[in-house]
Amino acid sequence: MSEQTLSNLSREDRRFEPPAALAAGANVKEEAYARADADREAFWAEAAERLEWGQKWDQVLDWSNPPFAKWFVGGTLNASVNCVDRHVDAGNGDKVALHWVGEPEDDTRDITYAELKDLVSKAANALTDLGVQKGDRVAIYMPMIPEVVVAMLACARLGAPHTVVFGGFSADALASRITDCEAHVVITSDGGYRRGAASALKPAVDEAVAKTGDLVRHVLVVRRTGQDVDWDDARDVWWHDAVDAASSEHEPEMHDSEHPLYVMYTSGTTGKPKGILHTTGGYLTGTSFTHWEVFDLKPETDVYWCTADVGWVTGHSYMVYGPLANGATQVMYEGTPEKGRWWQIVQDYGVTIFYTAPTAIRTFMKQGREIPDSYDMSSLRLLGSVGEPINPEAYVWYREVIGGDRCPIVDTWWQTETGQIMISPLPGVTAGKPGSAMKALPGIAADVVDDEARSVGNGNGGYLVLKEPWPAMLRTLWGDDQRFKDTYWSRWEGLYFAGDGAKLDDDGDIWLLGRVDDVMNVSGHRLSTTEIESALVSHPKVAEAAVVGAADDTTGQAVCAFVILRDSAGDGGEDIVEELRKHVAKEIGAIAKPRQIMVVPELPKTRSGKIMRRLLKDVAEHREVGDVTTLADSTVMDLIKDKESSAP
Ligand code: WTA
Repeated sequence: MSEQTLSNLSREDRRFEPPAALAAGANVKEEAYARADADREAFWAEAAERLEWGQKWDQVLDWSNPPFAKWFVGGTLNASVNCVDRHVDAGNGDKVALHWVGEPEDDTRDITYAELKDLVSKAANALTDLGVQKGDRVAIYMPMIPEVVVAMLACARLGAPHTVVFGGFSADALASRITDCEAHVVITSDGGYRRGAASALKPAVDEAVAKTGDLVRHVLVVRRTGQDVDWDDARDVWWHDAVDAASSEHEPEMHDSEHPLYVMYTSGTTGKPKGILHTTGGYLTGTSFTHWEVFDLKPETDVYWCTADVGWVTGHSYMVYGPLANGATQVMYEGTPEKGRWWQIVQDYGVTIFYTAPTAIRTFMKQGREIPDSYDMSSLRLLGSVGEPINPEAYVWYREVIGGDRCPIVDTWWQTETGQIMISPLPGVTAGKPGSAMKALPGIAADVVDDEARSVGNGNGGYLVLKEPWPAMLRTLWGDDQRFKDTYWSRWEGLYFAGDGAKLDDDGDIWLLGRVDDVMNVSGHRLSTTEIESALVSHPKVAEAAVVGAADDTTGQAVCAFVILRDSAGDGGEDIVEELRKHVAKEIGAIAKPRQIMVVPELPKTRSGKIMRRLLKDVAEHREVGDVTTLADSTVMDLIKDKESSAP
């Protein structure tokens, strides 16, 4: 990592102290770090005590066969009981669990914990009638409707691991996941609403099921849009027939702490998706504890909203399992971010804690602050960010415009694999630095190391690793222990390799620099794509930027940037490219000056909002553009290629 790169990142000197009242009443205080360091297992055992167990564990952690961890060995519990029944039994049955907001205006539904318990019990009975038994896998392919939460919890209740496949994925993607985990039952809906129109889901399920031979025995279908669907009487069952008719009494079984809870597929660098396996006791401990800790949740008064789709791990850990285990009241929204709709929801429901992704924030920045400014968002008290590094400009905009300059921001680093938040400020303790995820949470051991696994020390960059097991860690890749070891544990003995580059600043705080495969090497200098993107976005005319390292005869790799201009910048003016190159040189140094900058109308993003740099690299290296099937909008690449061919 070049000196210049590091000093540029260290230059951020704005600090945001926790609000005094929040600090005074914070769920987790500074002493937690030392307490966890003194006895990590005791710390996590205390966190596990927050749950309801059938039988307590005999051993907190069994790490005798690394990297295969067992947490709360000998303990038994039921995740759905912890997320639902427990709150009803405690007298909170009338409390709203979900304020569900449909995409069509005025299509809303409030569901209390008591109602949720009945729904989950009915669904568990209906699934049992369809032949689902403990250990069977169930695939779920649904829009953001309450039934998806009910379906997940019903599976958890039965001990039938679910695999939720994002509703925007193709039939092929669904088929490969059904096949990989051998699911006999699929839960879906006729369709969902997207950008004002009904969009079908069932046809993709029909197509996927046809591709999987006779594996799938039943498809349980929620009627959401009322659109026409093809029907196979022997296989398809309407949710409203099966679930509504079922009994709302269901006696839950207590499952082993290490019983599989779900499999979530995530893309690797190459090849087929990896089925990340999460189990019950450790996962629920890790997610519920960190949700309470990082968001400083006060279940009696907070209204929490995580905007992630349930098809991603953030939806699993911080919309379903963490918040419901904590008895939170939350908002669940069916649609995508449209201009002022999110802020209308914040205003209408008095949302106090809001958790979203930097890509959404930058989109709102591009649209201008007039939109959020016209809503009353004074209920907000804490903001969260997840999924990618948040550049300082987006952080400050988020804080000022959405958070009214009073809400702390928790920039949370974690992965599908980690299950729970690992690196984040503590809102009542940490003075936030825009752009830094700060440090590992109490009970988590992270470090930044060099190629030889040596700690790089403050002021240096390297690879992010995790040094000790944690409760919600993935247990393996579904059906592939070897790939699990190879992918995460083989680079250095005893260390989990996260695949992210990071640096420690002079205070020892962690800055995430993007995936290591996105780190460029230009003339022997390591440059972070993230850092250059951040520099570009700090220019007043730029709304979004993506940077790739393209092969270059002279320098090894060269920096190629793709930028979207702000609406207010018009076409940017004649010299926009030179202006931006100079800006980057000024921000970081001449070495980082992009060789090429293309002004484009859109960037290629996956449905979870991640920029697909691989495709941009194809353009930058003048290759045929690769597979675009996982893009949210596959026509984006045509727009970009058109731009390129018309470039001088
Ligand atoms: C990136 C999402 C910087 C990182 C929860 C990680 C982040 C990958 C942050 C996991 C953050 C996530 N700052 N980078 N706060 N959060 N990432 O599995 O590269 O979809 O390895 O999990 O996203 O993405 P995943």
